[in-house]
Amino acid sequence: MNDFLFLSASPNQQASHAYRFADALLKKLSERHPGMSVNKRDLAANPLPPLSAAYGSALTKRTPFDDPAFRQSEELIDELERSRHLLIATPMHNFTVPATLKLWIDYVLRIGRSFSAGPEGKVGLLADRPTYIIVSSGGIHQGPQARQPDFLSDYLRHSLKTIGITNNHFIYLQGMVGSEEAVAAAISTARQQLSNTPLFAGVEPESTAFEASV
Ligand SMILES: Cc1cc2nc3c(=O)[nH]c(=O)nc-3n(C[C@H](O)[C@H](O)[C@H](O)COP(=O)(O)O)c2cc1C
Repeated sequence: MNDFLFLSASPNQQASHAYRFADALLKKLSERHPGMSVNKRDLAANPLPPLSAAYGSALTKRTPFDDPAFRQSEELIDELERSRHLLIATPMHNFTVPATLKLWIDYVLRIGRSFSAGPEGKVGLLADRPTYIIVSSGGIHQGPQARQPDFLSDYLRHSLKTIGITNNHFIYLQGMVGSEEAVAAAISTARQQLSNTPLFAGVEPESTAFEASV
């Protein structure tokens, strides 16, 4: 069992604002909890293979879980099952999740495996766990300054709920293509959001080190 599954989805990889914010948090948290284990999966550096026809076909039948068509899906679902917390660092791409993260969703939301479907609708089959989602965006999509829709948050919230994960905290890094001052203000707002969450309250990285790294 790992303490964290850390998924990152930005093409900027380790230079990504969202990645660096999330990574700095994990480092700080691990100082508090030495031995904390983190399984990192960079969905941009190591892209998942495109969905195959065999996967699509296996999904719609009562195919055994050990069928080769499910190998990638099983690996990703196993990773989730072996993690007490989930941390996702993702940019917003065209108002929603980037394609790298969408592909992960397409492998992990699997009827009969991670959710069931019946008259009551779709019911999640995985254990709920504290989940933190760091979303970076070039512009603003939340609050009175919003100039664009946010199809990312509800979509991701609903996707996670479908598999049973409802204990979600969204943290927004907005306006990240703005001036240095705007970026600093965005980081400060994100820190305030974090300070209201159970896991990261009181573990915000020291201001100077953190700002230098984000
Ligand atoms: C293909 C693409 C689409 C984007 N779409 C949006 C968008 O819809 N809204 C927005 O605010 N920013 C958009 N951006 C800007 C990124 O969200 C922004 O640069 C963000 O800070 C990148 O995050 P990262 O530094 O964590 O990689 C887009 C960037 C790319 C490359």
